[in-house]
Amino acid sequence: MALDGGLSIEIAERMVENVVGTFALPLGIATNFTVNKRDYLVPMVIEEPSVIAAASHGAKLARTRGGFHVAVDAANMIAQVHLIDVPNTRTSYENIRAARGHILELANSVQPRLVARGGGATDIEVRLLGVGHIVVHIIVDCRDAMGANIVNTVAEAVAPMLADLTRSNAALRILSNLADRRLVHASCEIASDSLAFGEFDGLDVAVAIATVSRIAEVDTYRTATHNKGILNGIDAVALATGNDWRAIEAGAHAFAARHGRYEPLSRWTVSEQGILRGSLTLPLALGTVGAALRAHQGAQTALRILGATSARELAAVTGAVGLATNLAALRALATEGIQRGHMRLHHRVTSYCAAQ
Ligand code: MEV
Repeated sequence: MALDGGLSIEIAERMVENVVGTFALPLGIATNFTVNKRDYLVPMVIEEPSVIAAASHGAKLARTRGGFHVAVDAANMIAQVHLIDVPNTRTSYENIRAARGHILELANSVQPRLVARGGGATDIEVRLLGVGHIVVHIIVDCRDAMGANIVNTVAEAVAPMLADLTRSNAALRILSNLADRRLVHASCEIASDSLAFGEFDGLDVAVAIATVSRIAEVDTYRTATHNKGILNGIDAVALATGNDWRAIEAGAHAFAARHGRYEPLSRWTVSEQGILRGSLTLPLALGTVGAALRAHQGAQTALRILGATSARELAAVTGAVGLATNLAALRALATEGIQRGHMRLHHRVTSYCAAQ
């Protein structure tokens, strides 16, 4: 039995404003995923043909050498409080550092349930942004939540104390979507033999993939498209599981530009033994609890299909999917081109629509 959207109009009306209906997208399942030695079926919501097939194909290639290895940071998000018109930045900096314990205590007092689940505010950072401008970061472990509401509550709770300590104004109290304390590091290997197909020699394909990957390091016009191929997979899992994919996009692109230049999120190289190695690092603020997920039966079902029991496990699988869609795209680009497979699937829908 197919899922039919999983969202009633009554629930939709409670989720957002001025609702006139709901809007469906295809939900498919990507196969062949082994992540940290566990097998997964991965739900993906996306309107673009080929992405689910690409994810499954990339995962099949990675599986020949054990699948994906993914390390996931703790669910640390950043609450920002920007203080402006600070009369004495140096003294204020010292005052904030000295009050670290009180700041953390106040931050945790507004999130008792998070603290009971083992999360909460763990650290502060103070950055001087210029004359009279200080930003304080409160690092909050959000456990299984994406964390936006938690972190915004913390920022608003501690801002008056910080303004008092510095005799300044709290101009901004909000999370940062550059979730660079919540990184996912995914990697995989493929023996070049497994990359041979048709008239293409496996080692040639591996080398061509590495070449295409290097091009993304030197040309920003290409980098954008390279990263889009990663986010094709990541956004589709985020959407299927009821997560805020705009936050993922914002975090990914800001992270890609962290060195002052927009860079690829993944890299592919070939070893002397002919092994193709791929690695991907990006922030993934994904949750397995939260209001949107609770409201959306489709997202709940998708999460059950995936079988991830924590936000970190969901992030691990999602990172693997990003590396898989990237691999499949680079392999196609390095060999027969993207249009053959893409257009075959595209024609299926256009001919069906024309026949209606
Ligand atoms: C299409 O949605 C994604 C690709 O353009 C990614 C890439 O070029 O690497 C195929």
